[in-house]
Amino acid sequence: MSDHLERDIDDKENYSVNNSGNRSFENVFQKYASRRDVLAGSMAVAATTFFVTNNAVADDDDSYLWKKRRKRRKLIDFAPVPNSVGEEDNREPTISDDYQFDVIIPWGTPLEPGSAPEYAGDPNTRPSSKEACRQIGIGHDGMWFFADRWNRNRGMLAINHEFGTNPHVLGKSSPESLEDVRLSQAVHGVSIVALERSRRGHKMGNWEVVSSRNSRRITVNTPMEFSGPAADSELLQNPNGNVPLGTVNNCGSGPTPWGTYLTCEENFNGYFGATEGESFNDRRTEEQLRYGFDFDGFGYGWEKFDKRFDLSDDDYINEQNRFGWIVEIDPRDASQKPVKRTAMGRFKHEAVAIAVGAGGRAVAYMGDDQRFDYIYKYVSADNYRQMLKDGVSPLDEGKLYVARFDDDGTGEWLELTIDNPVLAARFSSQAEVVIYARIAADLLGATPMDRPEWTTIGADGYVYCTLTNNSRRETPNAANPEAPNLTGHIIRWKDSRRYTGTTFEWDIFILASSTLGTEQTFGSPDALWADSFGRIFIGTDGGQEFGLQDQLLVIDAKTGESRRMLTGVNSDEITGITITPDQRTMFVNVQHPGNGSPDATNFPAEQDGVTIPRDCTLVITKKDGGIIGS
Ligand code: FEO
Ligand code: CA
Ligand code: CA
Repeated sequence: MSDHLERDIDDKENYSVNNSGNRSFENVFQKYASRRDVLAGSMAVAATTFFVTNNAVADDDDSYLWKKRRKRRKLIDFAPVPNSVGEEDNREPTISDDYQFDVIIPWGTPLEPGSAPEYAGDPNTRPSSKEACRQIGIGHDGMWFFADRWNRNRGMLAINHEFGTNPHVLGKSSPESLEDVRLSQAVHGVSIVALERSRRGHKMGNWEVVSSRNSRRITVNTPMEFSGPAADSELLQNPNGNVPLGTVNNCGSGPTPWGTYLTCEENFNGYFGATEGESFNDRRTEEQLRYGFDFDGFGYGWEKFDKRFDLSDDDYINEQNRFGWIVEIDPRDASQKPVKRTAMGRFKHEAVAIAVGAGGRAVAYMGDDQRFDYIYKYVSADNYRQMLKDGVSPLDEGKLYVARFDDDGTGEWLELTIDNPVLAARFSSQAEVVIYARIAADLLGATPMDRPEWTTIGADGYVYCTLTNNSRRETPNAANPEAPNLTGHIIRWKDSRRYTGTTFEWDIFILASSTLGTEQTFGSPDALWADSFGRIFIGTDGGQEFGLQDQLLVIDAKTGESRRMLTGVNSDEITGITITPDQRTMFVNVQHPGNGSPDATNFPAEQDGVTIPRDCTLVITKKDGGIIGS
């Protein structure tokens, strides 16, 4: 979600509450950093202009082979976008001189050629809700490209449409009819769209939308299935008896090793409101408070015309529990009903990264993006291939854990299980534990973090996680001198027993604050993807220095060297990193350009001061046809 929006919303005192009193990560890190400073002496700070705290690791695996490889070729060698670009108003993206980009699938593009009229950003017209259901949605965020097995120049792009504000989508602050609500709902959700690289055009060929029987839109009105421990829970049934429908605020995502797409429901609470007004807030339950429900939500106003989203309507009393999950979608089968995997817990799921761990288990790492919320992992019960063969989803049977980071650079994964007497004293079943995972994690003593966003599995076996910022940090310390911490950092850890163990060792990969004032300056790291060569790609979401807009950076995980590949347009966010199997085409999203205001930018249209800017996907290639990031 847009950082400024998150801030505005979070500044409402009652938005979400973590009253667990668990020791915050800020506190743990202060202790850990001061101890490490003593142990390590002078750090790599001076050498790299920023803070890469991987000394112990670098020394251990600085092997002969690695040195040889590094001598041969620099991992990241492209011309960076300089800071000075920010001196101009950014109405168009700026990319490294060694790279080029095309724009595809802006909001309003027909899902298939001819499937709907195109909406091109005319402020005087809007698509109908029916048309929008056959167009690409808005709020482009997490995505993954699933190449065809027989034709690598063709495939299905699964892409999340996280959010579009009412002014951006409807041209007004509140819906005035059910049709307005249906349009708002139709532009949210997920698109599965077929792309193919034409043989015409420039050297690499252009990617364009083509027809496919597997193309589909998934919205908050699409039938869904629940599986896992909470599937049959009464807490997921309404007195009204309505069937489960829809997914919303689909933020980050991740592919599974078996070729499906996982989409993550983040700020679902904001789409609910209470028609009874402010009095609702006085009678909220502990669970509603912990998940941030509020009588006027984020101002979408769906509850005024669609009872499912009215927190005051007792007929739909458990509709709210049907959101906050990870949803599995088969991008190669449009007839598949998306499945909400309850074993992975209910919280504000940012994104998910899956490693294949010891014994072939699927291990999923997940952030809960709220100030002072947690990092989770899920481990499948058995070898994922065997489970699939036996007809059991690896995401239905397994264990859910939450992370506790200790002062000494170690940590523990705490299992969220009803077999734990602490949880059995509060909950009656595993279903309740997963539905109220945040409360279960509070009780176990998980470490409150600075807004966990994306995770990724590094080529070095580390799991990396962006902690985007925490504007409510109150206590400055030597390692994090800003109070509040507005720039964020990236943490990483290595689990015991090849991802599957319950203990880990961690350190801080980068403090973004340590890059300020350099050519590598960035803040608010958010989207994250590691390639197989040791590069880490970062998309940012928050104010950047030097007048820079949000950016795409590439970092050498080994040396800490970073380069800026791309900067976006005014008031956007750069997110949703995915790549073709040959690693020569990268797709990256420009989300909420100009925050929807034609005064800020008209991208991707020509700059005319009138056309509504539209979320879109950039197709990035290297001019010399090389590997992306090199
Ligand atoms: Fe949807 Fe936390 O970003
Ligand atoms: Ca994000
Ligand atoms: Ca963010």
